[in-house]
Amino acid sequence: MKSIFFALLALASTALTTPILTSEETKLASRQLESQADILDNLLSVIQTHTANINATTQAAPENPDLAQQNAAAAALAPDLNAITTALTSATTQFAKRSLIEARTGGGGGTPPKSCSSDCLLIKVKIIVFELIYTIKFIIIKLGLACVLHLLTPLLLALVGLVKALDKVVVGLLIVVKTLVTGVLGTLAGGLLALIIW
Ligand SMILES: *[C@@H]1O[C@H](CO)[C@@H](O)[C@H](O)[C@H]1NC(C)=O
Repeated sequence: MKSIFFALLALASTALTTPILTSEETKLASRQLESQADILDNLLSVIQTHTANINATTQAAPENPDLAQQNAAAAALAPDLNAITTALTSATTQFAKRSLIEARTGGGGGTPPKSCSSDCLLIKVKIIVFELIYTIKFIIIKLGLACVLHLLTPLLLALVGLVKALDKVVVGLLIVVKTLVTGVLGTLAGGLLALIIW
């Protein structure tokens, strides 16, 4: 009886101290030691699931939507846009954990991932950035910026956070990404880009 009590107590205290993770975070956390390349591949596939939904939702919105229609479309987009923000933040956390482990062990936690060079990581990041910025461009062209600004701002900040976390591994990455984002979204979303500190 006593042991059951203590087992329950232990269970309760883990439940209290374990942060509540989204399913994407749990998936990522369980593969804590995966390489940066794996983290980016995983991230891209999560992002593509959501950008496919976003594209369908945006497509379905009426042409020249009035304010109510813009807001309705933005509300419909919110879960997918927020899920992308969460996925970007989770990936950034994974990179931070990796660097910590690498600093402690003096290497890639015993299995240095050499399969993806800095150039190869750069390509993966560019694919993610293109997927995001062209999807965002599509949204803004169809719906305008105002109704989605509150959703796109955290997303872009999370993207910049991810890029900053990788900038040490892929030297100059931040500048490359800034150029891409500004090139595609600069004239459309100046108000959004003004909120970002590169
Ligand atoms: C969503 O649309 C954008 C803009 O056309 C495109 O670049 C992106 O690849 C699309 N994503 C998916 C998953 O269909």
